[in-house]
Amino acid sequence: MPDVRLNWRSNDQKEKLESRKQIKDFPNDVLRNTNLLFYSDNLDVMDHLINTGFSRKIDLIYIDPPFYSNENYFLRRKNTQSIGFSDIWKGRISEYLEMIYPRLCAMHRLLSKSGSIFVHLDWHVVHYVKVIMDEIFKPENFRNEIIIKRGRRKNLLYQFKSLDRMHNSNDSILWYSKSPETRYPPPLVEYASASKWMGFWSNVDRPTLRYEIFGIVPERGQWKWSKARASKAIRNYHVYQRKHRFLSLDEYWSQTGRTLEFIRKRKGVKYPEYWIPAKSHKILDNIWTDIETYDYSTGYGTEKHVELLQRIIGKFSRPGNTVADFFCGSGTSLLVASRMNRHWIGCDSSSLAMKVSRKRLRGYNYRFLIRKAKPSRQGFRQAVSIS
Ligand SMILES: C[S@@+](CC[C@H](N)C(=O)[O-])C[C@H]1O[C@@H](n2cnc3c(N)ncnc32)[C@H](O)[C@@H]1O
Repeated sequence: MPDVRLNWRSNDQKEKLESRKQIKDFPNDVLRNTNLLFYSDNLDVMDHLINTGFSRKIDLIYIDPPFYSNENYFLRRKNTQSIGFSDIWKGRISEYLEMIYPRLCAMHRLLSKSGSIFVHLDWHVVHYVKVIMDEIFKPENFRNEIIIKRGRRKNLLYQFKSLDRMHNSNDSILWYSKSPETRYPPPLVEYASASKWMGFWSNVDRPTLRYEIFGIVPERGQWKWSKARASKAIRNYHVYQRKHRFLSLDEYWSQTGRTLEFIRKRKGVKYPEYWIPAKSHKILDNIWTDIETYDYSTGYGTEKHVELLQRIIGKFSRPGNTVADFFCGSGTSLLVASRMNRHWIGCDSSSLAMKVSRKRLRGYNYRFLIRKAKPSRQGFRQAVSIS
C-alpha cells in the first residue's frame, strides 16, 4: 500500500493505464531523435509512447493542465473568439481527479531516472494534486512548491464593503523528481547587489563560536565563523589597509582572485563587521515573482510566458535532453525547448491549440501526428512532416 492516497468518489473505477487498449502501429523510428507534436488526447499519446519504448526516456516534463476553474477559455483573434478548451467539469472534482490521475501515472513511467516534472496549477486543485503526486512520485521526491504570479485578472474585491476572502494572486508549480538522488547545478539568476559590511555577531547561540577578537568575547550568541577563519579575515583586512589602500576593497578583492575574506572593527560600533562582496547573481528560491508567467501574444486564453519556460527548461534540463508537455496549449514550452536545443514532445487535444502551436513552431523541425477517427484508438497517422 502507498503511504499517501487520496480517495475520491468512484476512484475505484479509475482509468488505469495498464488496462487500456494498446496501440501498436506507431512506427518506432518516428520516436527517435525527432520532435513530435500530437493532436490527440494525451493519455492515448502516453500509452503509445510507453508501448513504443519511451519509458524512462523523458528528462523533463512541464504540464499546465486545466485548473478546475469552471471556465471556458477562448482563442481571441481580432474581432472573433472561439472556445480553445473547456475547464468545466460536470462530475465535479472527482471527474477532474479521474482525468489527472492516470495521466500522472503515465508521466511517472515516461520520466527518466534523473528527470523532473513540473505541474502548474492554482488554488482550485493544487492541494488535491499534491497528495496524488505524493502517492505516485513519493513524498521524498517532492522538491518545491514554486509560487508564481497569476495572470492578469480584475481584482473584483474593491466593489464590496466586506470580504469573505483575499484576492488570489499566485499560481503554484509542484516540482517532483523521479528519484531522490537527482541534482542540478544551483539555479542562478541575475541579481545586482553592491558589496557591504555586516555585523559579525549572530544571535544563534553556539558557545563554541564565542572566542575573543578585537578584545571582545560575546556573552551570548556567537561569532559567525570559526576562530581560524575569522583570524585570517582580520589579517587580510590589515594587509589591505597597510599596503593597498589606494585600491577600493572591491578592486583589491578582484585583483587577489576573488576569494579573500575580511573582518574589521570600527570605533564606536559595538561589534566587528565582515565584508560581503558585490553580487551579480543569486540562487533562486521558490518565489518566482521576478518573472512574467502569463502572456497574451497568441490570443490563446491560458498562454504562459516564455520567461517561465526558459527558467524551467534552462535550469532543469540540458541541451540534447528530451522535454515533454502533454497539455501544450499554444506551444510555449515547445517553442522554448526548440530555441534552447532540447528535443521535445508536445500534445494537445484542442484543434485551436494545434493551430496556434503550429504557427509558432513554423521553421522548426518536428513531426505532426494526429489520432485517427475519434472513437477508435487505432493509432496515429503522420499528418505533416516539416523539415
Ligand atoms: C492551460 S492550457 C495550456 C496552456 C499552455 N501552457 C500555453 O502556454 O499555452 C491546458 C491545455 O490542455 C489541453 N488539454 C486538456 N485536456 C487534455 C487532454 N486530455 N489531452 C490533451 N490536451 C488536453 C487543453 O486543450 C488546453 O490547451
